[in-house]
Amino acid sequence: MEKFDVCIVGAGAAGLMCAIESGRRGRSVVLLDHSKAPAEKIRISGGGRCNFTNLDIRPERFLSNNPHFAKSALSRYTQYDFIDKVASHNIPYHEKTLGQLFCDVSAKDIIAMLLEEAREAGVVLRLNTSVEEVSKDEGFTLKTTGGAIAVESLVIATGGKSIPKMGATGWGYQIARQFDLPLVETRPGLVPLTFAEQELQQTKPLAGVSVQARVSTPQIGFDEGLLFTHRGLSGPSILQISSYWREGEGIFVDLAAGSNTFETLRSARSQKGRVSLGKALAQIVPSRLAEQVLGDVPLKGNLADQSDASLQLLHDRVHRWAVKPVGSEGYRTAEVTLGGVDTAALDAKTMAVRKIPNLFFIGEVVDVTGWLGGYNFQWAWSSGWAAGQVA
Ligand code: FDA
Repeated sequence: MEKFDVCIVGAGAAGLMCAIESGRRGRSVVLLDHSKAPAEKIRISGGGRCNFTNLDIRPERFLSNNPHFAKSALSRYTQYDFIDKVASHNIPYHEKTLGQLFCDVSAKDIIAMLLEEAREAGVVLRLNTSVEEVSKDEGFTLKTTGGAIAVESLVIATGGKSIPKMGATGWGYQIARQFDLPLVETRPGLVPLTFAEQELQQTKPLAGVSVQARVSTPQIGFDEGLLFTHRGLSGPSILQISSYWREGEGIFVDLAAGSNTFETLRSARSQKGRVSLGKALAQIVPSRLAEQVLGDVPLKGNLADQSDASLQLLHDRVHRWAVKPVGSEGYRTAEVTLGGVDTAALDAKTMAVRKIPNLFFIGEVVDVTGWLGGYNFQWAWSSGWAAGQVA
């Protein structure tokens, strides 16, 4: 039987980071992945340019049953530590918007950087390798498709359930169950929302239309782009709210965030009131959406014919559209999985399972989920780094 100090299952963002750190401490590390290539999600992330972190990482931008849990790892290995790593490999990058850092050229630069560091740290990478059984003795014994392995420390970095086509399995939750660890119910996050047939009749013709929106629940709101789709709504503002939205709840959408429809139309009325309402409204929202909005309000005549109350009606329809999604597009397209291994079972400083020595969970498999914008990779780097200091 082969022996290593550490086995990390999952050669994604968190697993690679942990392997590098652990290997640098002189530990013999084997990194297993059932896929034929490592870090497939990094490769496709950020439209192929990987939004690898955010300049404005804050613990309150992560969802978890324990909102304090992520603080330790995020403060010990910060966005600036990862930016230094990227810079030291001469990888060109830029800030796109809202602090989001992307590679100038390709996400493959990040993968190459991590693989190079892992190689230098002596990490043994085994792809196309599945773990069939894990048993606990003094350390852990793993029965894999490539033979049995005995290790002192076992790190689970297999991610969540999002995008099964990319190798997501939920296997980490199975291991958590095997060791009797509590799990927080999982659900898709950062995912487009869908409408019932009735709403779809109204919104389907708008598929492809995008606006700058503010989307909110009573809890929280996001000012970002929104896109009408054939199934409902997407775009960054919708992906963000999807992590907070629960089935049965409604959302409020401001379809022209930053504008004031009432004031704009009132001023236009005093200057060129003979213009049609559609034309006037199309100065504020895309014309297809303007027509749709007008179909919803019982107004007749041109702009000059409208009272202040009518303009207010239009204003409310544009800025306070209340809709009730019926669901989401699910794990098929979700960028992340909310929930996972309950942080109550883990030590926030090391990511170790409190009651089982030398067992660790890192990255997305843990009940910590970030906002859209580089937050989830930062969690993978920080939690992987934290475990790598002790595993
Ligand atoms: P990750 O999923 O990266 O890695 C898990 C690894 O485990 C995979 O290599 C998988 O093959 C392997 N595995 C799974 N089950 C296994 C098993 N049973 N046996 C062996 N191996 C197994 N985030 C961000 O911050 N910026 C961004 O730009 C994006 N963009 C983005 C785009 C898309 C399309 C998606 C789906 C997701 C993103 N994300 C993102 C989210 C980000 O990709 C995600 O949060 C991290 O990849 C999580 O890192 P982990 O290492 O925890 O899991």
